This record gives sequence, structure tokens and C-alpha cells, in this order.
Amino acid sequence: MGIGRSKQTTRHYYNQSTQSFFETVFGDQIHPPMVDQPEYWFDPNKWKDGARLSSKQLIELAGLTVPQKILDVGCGIGGVARQLVIEFGHQVTAINKSDLQIKRAIELGNNGIQYCLMDAQVLAFADNTFDSAVCMNMSYHVDRKKLFKELSRVVRPGGILALDDWVTTDLTTTEIYNWLMTQWCPDGSYGFGSLKQYRSDLKLNQWREVAFLDLTNIGAKYLTNESIFQNAYNAFFNNAVNEFGKYGDITLSEMLINLAITGLLYREGMLKYIQMVAKNVA
Ligand SMILES: C[S@@+](CC[C@H](N)C(=O)[O-])C[C@H]1O[C@@H](n2cnc3c(N)ncnc32)[C@H](O)[C@@H]1O
Repeated sequence: MGIGRSKQTTRHYYNQSTQSFFETVFGDQIHPPMVDQPEYWFDPNKWKDGARLSSKQLIELAGLTVPQKILDVGCGIGGVARQLVIEFGHQVTAINKSDLQIKRAIELGNNGIQYCLMDAQVLAFADNTFDSAVCMNMSYHVDRKKLFKELSRVVRPGGILALDDWVTTDLTTTEIYNWLMTQWCPDGSYGFGSLKQYRSDLKLNQWREVAFLDLTNIGAKYLTNESIFQNAYNAFFNNAVNEFGKYGDITLSEMLINLAITGLLYREGMLKYIQMVAKNVA
């Protein structure tokens, strides 16, 4: 389990990997395809489409289907932000800590999106600036209490927070927690929380849960050794890693093993993948 990766900042990690490994594997959306359709998992060229469907699932769960002012928090290279504009007509401001990802997001098409280099824990926006906020697979990088507090300030009362993320469970051991932190949360200062912690931190910061999807079974079912090691992923990841090799941070075998362990954790009940919607009751 001890695959070494040195501690680094989130900015450095995402700066390094952009336009290489992540973009080759995930397209413009940097999160897994949490949809119950095998083609998105077993055909590596479709991972990208599955990732997009996964975002659509959250956007629809949150009822964000009528144009409004949305903050996309931890926006990667703008895939979700563009989807919010193009498919749903929203007015989007997107923030990220990675300057290179913002540069790449703009290269891929601005679409009227306002990009800001900003830490999600200290938002430089006035109170009630947004109708809603979307955090797609990013909250494990930050102090949730600070994030939810800032979001309840910049999103208007009655506004919506749409969250998608990994969460730990009562079964997650310290060793597994440390592994998750090392492999998926490179800055290591905050990170993975349990569903219970998410719920209590949301409540503490004036967010009331209004919808919830547990997608763990999808990860458990499809993130298997077969899907990872025995199909085109090998060739696909090889290409991606050759590209990524330029930045020299992670190897093909590390990524395959990380994915295999993550699938196992879903099956063992030590990791969950959830989408959650909360309303600002401030
Ligand atoms: C797994 S990626 C998800 C990107 C995007 N939401 C998507 O789904 O395509 C996590 C993102 O969170 C950003 N991030 C991490 N910590 C952050 C922080 N403190 N403030 C703003 N963005 C942050 C990273 O730079 C990265 O873009």
C-alpha cells in the first residue's frame, strides 16, 4: 500500500498534471464517471463522456436547470463551468487555486465565464453574490468548515450548494485514511471527511440538506481489476502516462494500483462516493 509520493501543494499537483495525464484521461472534467452504465467504465475513450454525465446528474439533482448566477468552486480546466453555460445557460464565475488550470480553461473556450485565481476557503466576493454554488469533486482538498462558511456568505439565502465527492465511513481505518490522503490529496493539510462530518459541517454553516445520492455501488461495481488492468485502460493509460512522464510525478503502475485500491475500498465499505444538495437557510 505504501506507494510513495512526496508531499506537495495542491497548486503544484494540479499545475503539473494539467494538459497531460488528467486531460488525456478525463477530458475537460476531472472526476470519475459515476454513472451506472458499463460503457463509460470499460471503454477508456468514453470516460470523458461519463464524467460529463456525472456532472449533469448533480446539476439536475440540484435543480440548477434554469439560468442563474453560479459559482463553480475548484473548477479544474473549466469543463463543469462550460457545461453549466452551454447546456443550462447559467452565468458562471469559476475559481481555482491552480493558475495553469485557469490558463488552460480559458484556452479551451471562455464562454463568458469569469475565471478567478482564488482559494475556496477565502472567497473575495461580496455577500449574496451568487444564486448557487457547485463543488465538483474538490471539497476533499479544503477545510470543509471554512468552505461551507464562505459559501453560505457568498450564496444568497435560499440558494443552493451542489456537492460531489468522496467521503470516508466508520470502517475507514487510519492506515486507509493516510493512504487516501497521500495518493489523492497531495497537499495533505485537510482532506477526506466522513458523511457524518459533511452533514454536521453543512448544518453548522446554515446549509440544510435537500437531496442526496449514494453512488458508491457504481464505483464498487465498475472500478474493478478487470476494468482497470484487463482492457484498453492499459494502452490508454500508457499514452497518458507517457505524456504525463514529462512532468515526472506519477507512473502508470502507481495510477493503476491507486485506482484498483480505490475500487476495493468502495467494495469494502471504507469509501463512499456521494452527490449532495443543500439549501442556504441563513
Ligand atoms: C479533482 S479536481 C476537480 C476539478 C473540477 N471541479 C472538475 O470536476 O472537473 C479538484 C480541483 O480543485 C482545485 N482546488 C483544490 N484546492 C483548492 C482551493 N483551496 N481553492 C480553489 N480550488 C482548489 C484544484 O486545483 C482542482 O482544479
